[in-house]
Amino acid sequence: MGLIPQDVINQVVGRSDIVEIIGQYTVLKKAGHNFKACCPFHHEKTPSFVVNPDKQIFHCFGCGVGGDVFGFLMRQEHLEFPEAVRFLANKAGVVIPEEEQYTSSPSRQIREDIFKINNLAAGFFHDLLLKDRTEEAKRGRDYLKERGVDLETVKKFQLGFAPNEWDALLKYLKSHGYPEERVLAAGLIIAREGKNGFYDRFRNRIVFPISDVQNRCVAFGARALSEEQGAKYINSPETAIYTKGQHMFGLNRARQVIGQMDKIIVVEGYMDMIMPYIHGVENISASLGTALTVEQIRLIRRYTSNVVMLYDADAAGQAAMIRSLDMLIDEGMNVRVAALAEGEDPDSFIRQEGLEAFKKRIENAQPLLDFKFNWLSKQHDPLSVEGKSRISQELLATINRFKTEVAKYELTKDLARKLNVPENILAKQGIKTVVSGKDTNIEETQRRVVGFGRSAQELLLSLFLKDPAWVMAAKDKIGPENFSEGPVRTIVEEIWAKVDAKEEWSVSSLLIRIKDETLQGFMTRLVSIDDEELGDTARVFMDCIAKLQKDQQKEARTRLMEAIRQAERAGKKEELDQLKGEFNQLLKRSGV
Ligand code: UTP
Ligand code: MN
Repeated sequence: MGLIPQDVINQVVGRSDIVEIIGQYTVLKKAGHNFKACCPFHHEKTPSFVVNPDKQIFHCFGCGVGGDVFGFLMRQEHLEFPEAVRFLANKAGVVIPEEEQYTSSPSRQIREDIFKINNLAAGFFHDLLLKDRTEEAKRGRDYLKERGVDLETVKKFQLGFAPNEWDALLKYLKSHGYPEERVLAAGLIIAREGKNGFYDRFRNRIVFPISDVQNRCVAFGARALSEEQGAKYINSPETAIYTKGQHMFGLNRARQVIGQMDKIIVVEGYMDMIMPYIHGVENISASLGTALTVEQIRLIRRYTSNVVMLYDADAAGQAAMIRSLDMLIDEGMNVRVAALAEGEDPDSFIRQEGLEAFKKRIENAQPLLDFKFNWLSKQHDPLSVEGKSRISQELLATINRFKTEVAKYELTKDLARKLNVPENILAKQGIKTVVSGKDTNIEETQRRVVGFGRSAQELLLSLFLKDPAWVMAAKDKIGPENFSEGPVRTIVEEIWAKVDAKEEWSVSSLLIRIKDETLQGFMTRLVSIDDEELGDTARVFMDCIAKLQKDQQKEARTRLMEAIRQAERAGKKEELDQLKGEFNQLLKRSGV
């Protein structure tokens, strides 16, 4: 996706009104200075979605999302940032210069060629599966028929057959004017070892094209017809347009329904996606044989945050699922896990048991924590002291990943009941897990803490965002170093950088720079704090500055005291005197 020049983006922002845009999707009611509505991104009966015309932002106090007009369109229309800019530019009558003018790099040319090559290859394989008269192609058709894949499905998914020849595809692509080096870059051929020349990667196999959500073929998977052929599936290698773990098989077809149903079923394999889909389960996509990656989860989140995991019951499937779960929580998804019996997979299940039984399995999916509890209980005896301890340790680490204190509290309570351990003991252990757990980092903990009450740091940032005059007033008193690591500090640093460079800035420009959704929601929430709630803003400002300065001095004192202790221990007389002098100065300055 080409970069759109900043001045074009500014022009688009300048000519659009967030109230008018959001008003096209939901009914906005005037409420004081702002507009209110029921949030389009979560279910609610009383409006907590606020649109601020001055700052041109929206924020939902119910689900915490927020952002500028682009952020709104990205969510609402499921667009990437550049797509949202184009979408809005179109409405606002801003002409975006032809992409080639600002990105005509060789890498772009290669990418475009690979898309075209893949497209040709998919067509080539597909035609052969439909019409080829060789014995092997016929076997391919029989194979699919046996697995219950009919002609309609073959066409829908553009399934294909790679012929049992060394270079049929290469010849075909060459005849369309593509040199070997490009076909190689597309991952469709392999160099002969120790000899010149290349041969086709996929031979005598059923071919599954993998598409991105824009319906462009980015890669292939190819299944053997028999076990003697070696690997069951051979897949495209990574190319300029394909990175493993960044796509979901079938999402291009399923995404619409996933959005409408606000739920996705995630399976492992190609056939596990295709068979339920043709039986009528249309909100389904496949991760392709690995644990879900963060990129895949973020892709899913463009359509829904409700996930039902449906992985094979074998050890590999369960392990992949366990690895996926923590990441899903980190990304704020609601996860449930559906069970399959040993030896079953979604493909075999729906063919044997039918649609209704399949739906029931999905409905009966377990909450994530129950699933993990059962999984752990198979490894550690939940009745023994040792077992309770191991299970609680693992599960508390998972519980701590949840974003809200309420969720953590409820889940801990539930765990206490399951293990038959008093709640307060688990709660205590939970705190220890946060501090010592190897997979919690300080920034994350900070983000959670800051997410609740309103600290001085947050209030101050709220003032900065509401009125840049406060930044100028604060500039010679404090700096970003006064803020603890975390979202507040990140945003303050952005603001300070702008001011130091004597550049203009606004909440809108910050939102364009800071694309992290969590940070955006955090920021719009601070902007949306009611003025009444803040009260006397000048007073708040002074208090907050004083608090930050005091914190800083306290920290400096602690640091000096530690240095003094060390100098004493090391017997460094001179250094000690100097440090003591500094310490007295500090005490005098802070009036302690
Ligand atoms: P499975 O081994 O569960 O196969 O691998 P499957 O999906 O049930 O395959 P069928 O039904 O026998 O055709 C799950 C997924 O892991 C990837 C594929 O994406 C597969 O769908 N995989 C598996 C590979 O990439 N290579 C392999 O050799 C095996
Ligand atoms: Mn299978």
